[in-house]
Amino acid sequence: MNSSLKGMTACVTGAARGIGAAIAKRLAAEGANVAVCDLKEEWCAETVAGLEALGVKAKAYGVNVAVSSEVDACVKAVIADFGSIDIMVNNAGITKDGLLMRMSDDDWDAVLNVNLKGTFLFTRAVSRPMMKNKAPDGTQKGGVIINIASVVGIMGNAGQANYTASKGGVIALTKTTAKELGSRNIRCNAVAPGFIQSKMTDVLPEDVKKAYMDTIPLKRFGTADDIAAAVAWLASPDASYVTGQIVSVNGGMIG
Ligand code: NAI
Repeated sequence: MNSSLKGMTACVTGAARGIGAAIAKRLAAEGANVAVCDLKEEWCAETVAGLEALGVKAKAYGVNVAVSSEVDACVKAVIADFGSIDIMVNNAGITKDGLLMRMSDDDWDAVLNVNLKGTFLFTRAVSRPMMKNKAPDGTQKGGVIINIASVVGIMGNAGQANYTASKGGVIALTKTTAKELGSRNIRCNAVAPGFIQSKMTDVLPEDVKKAYMDTIPLKRFGTADDIAAAVAWLASPDASYVTGQIVSVNGGMIG
C-alpha cells in the first residue's frame, strides 16, 4: 500500500459501484479511510468490504445527494464517525437523455438536482468543517474537494441538454469554490472523464459507441481506474499547488 493519504478521511458519493467505487478503492489503497455514500446504505456493502480488506476504516452511508437535510446529516455523521472530512469527492451522477425539444421538466430537474445541486450541497456542507481542520501543529490543514464533471460539460452533446448543463455547471462551481475557499487551504478541482466503460455507458447502442471510439486518439475507452488515478493525484500532497482546474481524462478526445 502507498501511504500518501494515510490518516486522511475521504467521503465519496455514488460509491456503491462504477467510477465512485473505483475512486474509493484507490484512495483506500493510498491509505485513506473512506466514507462510502450512495442512495441506499446496503448498496455500499461490497465497496466497504473491499476497502476494509485494504486495511483502512470504511463505513456506508445512505444519502440522496439532492436533498439538503440528508446531505447535512450525512456530513455530520461522517465527521462524528471519522473525526474529519479531508477529501470530498462529488461523484454521484445520473443521466436522463433525450432531445431538448422533447425533454420533460422532470427529466431536466432530476439530472440538475443530482449532478449539480448535489455537488453544491456537499461542497457547502463540508466547507465549514474543512475550514476548521487543523494539523497536529495547529496550522490550517484545510481539505480537498474533487468534483466529477464530464467531457460533454465542456463540448456539449446532442441528446443530453440536462446532463451537459449539469456538468458545465459543475465545472463553473469548481472554479468558484476554488476562489472562495483557497485562502483557507481548501483546494477544489474537477476531473472531466471522457467515455468510460461503466453501467452508465454499457447501455448505449453499438453504433453510438463506435462513433465515440472514432474520436479517441488513444483508441480505447477509459476505465474507472483511469479516473480514480487522477482523483488520487488531485487528493495527494503532490497536487498541493493545483486548484480551480479541470483535469481531462479522455484519451485525447478533446484538448
Ligand atoms: P454509475 O451509474 O455506475 O454510478 C453512479 C452512482 O451514483 C450509483 O451508485 C448511484 O446509485 C449513485 N447515485 C445516483 N443518484 C444518486 C443520488 N441522488 N444520491 C446518491 N447517490 C446517487 O455511473 P458512473 O459511470 O460510475 O458515473 C460516476 C460519475 O462519473 C457520474 O457523475 C457521471 O456523470 C460521471 N461520468 C461518467 C462517465 C462515463 O462514461 N461513465 C463519463 C463522464 C462522467
